[in-house]
Amino acid sequence: MNDEDLLKANQIISGFDRDSNSLIHILQEIQAKLGYVPQESQREVADYLGVPVSKVFGIVSFYNFFKINPPGRHQVHVCMGTACYVKGAEKLIEKIKAEFKIRPGETTADHRFSLEEVRCIGCCAIGPVITVDEDVYGGMTPEKVSAILKKYE
Ligand code: FES
Repeated sequence: MNDEDLLKANQIISGFDRDSNSLIHILQEIQAKLGYVPQESQREVADYLGVPVSKVFGIVSFYNFFKINPPGRHQVHVCMGTACYVKGAEKLIEKIKAEFKIRPGETTADHRFSLEEVRCIGCCAIGPVITVDEDVYGGMTPEKVSAILKKYE
C-alpha cells in the first residue's frame, strides 16, 4: 500500500462516526475510492471502530465486491451468463488464465490486468463477450482474446 492510498483511506475513515454500524459503509467507500481495501486500512478501520480485526477481515473476504489488492491498469471482464457460457466463454477464461497466470478475482503480477467473471452484460447476441475497461468485444474465441489483450499495456 502506498502512502497516498493510506492517506486517502484514513481521510475516509475519519469522516465517519466511531460507530460499528458504519463498518460496511467505510469499507465500501474505501473500495470505491481506491479500487481495493488494503490490509493496513482494514486494521485502521478495526482500531477506529473498536471492533476485532478478524471481523473486518471476515467481511472483506466474504463479499466479492471487496478486493484486497490494487486493481490492474485494465479491467478484463468475461461474461459467464448463460448465452455466453454455451458459446464457449469458459474457454476464454482458460486462455486468459494460461496466458496471464491469473484466475478470476486476481491481478497480474505486473498490474496490467485484473480479471473478473461477470453475469450477462446485455450483449447476448454477439456472445461470447468480454469487456476491457469500457470496450466491448463480441464473437470471442481464445485466439481473438489473446490478440485483443495485446493492445492493452
Ligand atoms: S450472457 Fe453474455 S452478454 Fe448476455
